[in-house]
Formats: sequence, structure tokens, C-alpha cells
Amino acid sequence: MKKYVLALTLLAIFGITTIAFTVDHGRMHEMMMRQGGSKIDERTELKLPAPMKVMQKSQMRQHLATIGEITSALAQNDLKKAEAITRSRLGWTEEEEKQCSMVTDITGEPDFLKYGKAMHMKAEELSNAAKSGNRDRAIYALGELINNCNACHYRFRH
Ligand code: HEC
Repeated sequence: MKKYVLALTLLAIFGITTIAFTVDHGRMHEMMMRQGGSKIDERTELKLPAPMKVMQKSQMRQHLATIGEITSALAQNDLKKAEAITRSRLGWTEEEEKQCSMVTDITGEPDFLKYGKAMHMKAEELSNAAKSGNRDRAIYALGELINNCNACHYRFRH
């Protein structure tokens, strides 16, 4: 009897899991078709050692957090704060140049340094706009800064 109950329970669990997978799979397929079907990822793979990928992605999450903080500072009209955060975390420094150059050297992809520098230079522009008290220009530069983040994301992947 116990064995019978156990078998029935396992069968029920297995059955539910299968149904859940089928429903999820169907929904996923529908969503993908709405977006034009599955495509291959044509971006260039950055051939970095796994620990460097982990480090790079962690840095990237920090970048996104920084963008959030800059946006809040601009929304509160705190231009001093917006300038300080942008300059200290996203400005173009010798250290940043070293890091971007190292990725380019390891991967043999000169575009990484190019896109990296372009993004950091936009951050310098944002800092300067905030420093001069021009909030509109700072917000415009923030939009362009984010476009520069994405330009690299469209070009490269892990
Ligand atoms: C020079 C290239 C480059 C620039 C500039 C760049 N990124 Fe990235 N970013 C990458 C790469 C490469 C990945 C890894 C993509 C992958 O996982 O395939 C990535 C991944 C990310 C991720 C995902 C992290 C994760 O945990 O998977 C976030 C978030 C991100 N970037 C935010 C930003 C923001 C915000 C900026 C601009 C302030 C920015 N990035 C600028 C190259 C760049």
C-alpha cells in the first residue's frame, strides 16, 4: 500500500512538472515569435578568462547603480552631487585607461578601448555640464552616456 501511495505521489509530481514545463515552453515560444523568432547572437565574443568576466560584470552592475544615483541627483537638482559621483566613478582616468587597455590587449579587440573611452569621455561631459550649473545639458549628456554604454553592449558579449 505504502509503495502504491509513493508511486502515485511521484507520478503526480512528475506529471505536474511536465505540464508546468510544457506551459512555460509554449509561453516562451509565443514570446520569442512575437519578437521575430530566435536569432543568432552576432556580437563579438570577448575571449577573457572566466574570473575576469566575473569581475567585469560586477563592475558593470556598479556602473548601472552609478547611473541610478546620477539620475536621482539630477532629479533632485543636486548638481554638485551629480558632478562628484560622475567624475569619481565614471571619469576618464589613468586607472580606467589601464583597465580598458588591458581588456583590449588580452582579447585583441581595439574597439573595446575605443567604446570604453567614448563612454568615459561622455561622463566627463556630463560632469562639466553639472559643474557649470546647466542641468538640461547634464540630463542630455546622461542620455548620451547611456547610449554609449549600449554601443559597447551591441558590439561585444561574453
Ligand atoms: C567597452 C564596453 C562596455 C561599456 C562601455 C559598457 N559595458 Fe556594460 N557590459 C560590457 C560587456 C562585455 C558585458 C557582458 C555582456 C555579456 O554578459 O555577454 C556587459 C554587461 C553589463 C551588464 C550586465 C551585468 C551582469 O551582471 O550580467 C550591465 C548591467 C552593464 N553592462 C551596464 C553598463 C553600464 C550602465 C554602462 C555605462 C555606464 C556600461 N555597461 C558600459 C561591456 C561594456
